[in-house]
Amino acid sequence: MSTVYLNGSYLPREDAHISPDDRGFLLGDGVYEVTPFYDGVPFCLDRHLDRLRRGLEWMRIELDVGALDEVHRRLIAENGLSDAPTALVYLQVTRGAAPRTHYFPPEPVPPTVYAYAKAWNRPAPERWERGFTAVTVPDRRWSRVDIKTICLLPNAMAFQEALDRGADDALLVRDGVAIEGAHMNFWGVFDGVAVTHPCTNHILPGITRGVVLELAREASIPCRERPIQVEELRSADELFFTGTTGEVRPCVEVDGVKVGDGRVGPVTRRLAELFRARIEAVKAEAAALSS
Ligand code: PDD
Repeated sequence: MSTVYLNGSYLPREDAHISPDDRGFLLGDGVYEVTPFYDGVPFCLDRHLDRLRRGLEWMRIELDVGALDEVHRRLIAENGLSDAPTALVYLQVTRGAAPRTHYFPPEPVPPTVYAYAKAWNRPAPERWERGFTAVTVPDRRWSRVDIKTICLLPNAMAFQEALDRGADDALLVRDGVAIEGAHMNFWGVFDGVAVTHPCTNHILPGITRGVVLELAREASIPCRERPIQVEELRSADELFFTGTTGEVRPCVEVDGVKVGDGRVGPVTRRLAELFRARIEAVKAEAAALSS
């Protein structure tokens, strides 16, 4: 039985009830975060909470985000995930429950804060080695996708379209630019330079993306933040996605056309290794602090 967090209480999932008037349910009026834990140790929790704080500020929802650090850790502990190699906490904040209006509730209501923890699995090494496929799908999202809102209908439609077309992932395209995936950021390698879309209102500023950029720079792997045109995809040496549950995920085929020689490339491989090494370093640091 899993324990979830709802508005200040830890309770069995079955006992967590949310009002049908909740503005998240009726209007998609909310934001969320997904934070990874490795062997019970949070990875970049501060960055995830910071992105959540920025989203809430933009939405004009008042909440003490600092207090959510403990919520994350306690959910991992209470759900027996302290030894899980890979786990995550999903956390969502909505504007709360109030009679339906398009404008904000005239009388302030408390936000609804809901979170749960669960284990997730990395793809088996052989699966990762084979690489993943993607198809291009029009990016039908709004113009503030840098805010991590719960309004994921365009993402869900795109992802399902990709699955229906026999691919593993959707690559969202806007005005001829390969923007990002339905749930991951997108990268290309061109003449040894790792390229990813700059942080504008058209991408989610992924935490994994940020860490991978730092790791690449530390390892002197050349990188550039610039838009990737769809026409460039055919000349890419490598393509990959980054995200909390995908980590560094090689993409070896787009729209049925192989990327390079169709195998996982050396830059993707190196960045995936560096990312794993960073996770181990964070775990070692946490162990040293607690001993
Ligand atoms: N998705 N782009 C989009 C559209 C995303 O939804 C996500 C995250 C990312 C990667 O961000 P990060 O590295 O911070 O996970 C990029 C989460 C995991 C989800 O919706 O489940």
